[in-house]
Amino acid sequence: MTESSAQPPTAESIEAITISASAELDRLENLEAVDQWRVSYLGRRGMLTTVLRGLSSLEVEERRTVGALANQAKNTLEERLEERVRQINEATLTRSANQDRLDVTLPGRPALEGRLHPTTQIVREICSAFVAMGFGVVEGPEVEWDHYNFEMLNIPKGHPARDMWNTLWVDYEDPTGEQAMLLRTHTSPMQARVMENREPPIRVVVPGKCYRYEATDATHEWHFYQVEGLAVGEGITFADLKGTLYEFARRMFGEERQIRFRCDYFPFVEPGVDMSIDCFACEGDGNGCRICRDSGWIEIMGAGMIHPKVLEGVGYDTERYTGFAFGMGPERIAMLKYGIDDIRHFYSNDLRFLRQF
Ligand code: PHE
Repeated sequence: MTESSAQPPTAESIEAITISASAELDRLENLEAVDQWRVSYLGRRGMLTTVLRGLSSLEVEERRTVGALANQAKNTLEERLEERVRQINEATLTRSANQDRLDVTLPGRPALEGRLHPTTQIVREICSAFVAMGFGVVEGPEVEWDHYNFEMLNIPKGHPARDMWNTLWVDYEDPTGEQAMLLRTHTSPMQARVMENREPPIRVVVPGKCYRYEATDATHEWHFYQVEGLAVGEGITFADLKGTLYEFARRMFGEERQIRFRCDYFPFVEPGVDMSIDCFACEGDGNGCRICRDSGWIEIMGAGMIHPKVLEGVGYDTERYTGFAFGMGPERIAMLKYGIDDIRHFYSNDLRFLRQF
């Protein structure tokens, strides 16, 4: 208690300490100096603390008034200390922001974000529509045997219908001399592969890549996707085919869609059809419409009742089982849906195109 006994505190000495302490504090520019200041005024042996200790030497009356002043002074200095620390921190932040030229208001650099290719998106959309109707999804090989791509589909060697599929043959010498290898020209070979391995009832869709020996133009690519569909069971009729594909058209292109079937020829179906939807762009009006080229109708797939020869080929009892199949091109469907005018955009890897989807 040596300090406290030195000088009995007065209202004046307390005010003097407060004034000089405040003035000193205002000149301090960094936190270390501020901390020293705190120790020398408010610390255990600080000036104000010493004054407070000296209160005990005063008379009761005086102690009450001077004590109140001293407490007030302590609170004031503590508040000013807090405020100064805040100011210094803020100034430091501003200074470093200016010095480092860090503009915290600039937007950050966006991370490159990947996305699904438009074909993948459409393939998934098509498959989901059929999955919702009870179909499963299977995939098959892109390098295929002549056997499955043609023969099992009622297209024997030398059959003129082979000209419908310009084929990329694989240079492979089969030891038995019987099998020729190719890049599948459609997903239809999976019809035979699925039926060989399962018993009806069967309901599957087959998405996958196909290849054709083709000169490319706005509507032809040498590689593209197809989604095949297959349903086999007892008592399946053309009405089931129609109902299923009608439902698909409405899910894919809108509730209002109408569909149209016209006769078409594919050796593995009988009867065979091509299916069109009424044009969703001009609502079937057909006047000057570039989507349906004025016809009011858009062809979207081939379909038909599975040819008995195909069912026989996989060993099914054709008296008992019937079925339907269909096949469509997702790129073509995406072109229609999004108004894309050239199929070559899909695989030219131009990000300006791909980023739009
Ligand atoms: N595979 C045929 C094609 O590529 C389309 C099709 C599939 C037609 C199934 C009828 C039934 O052209």
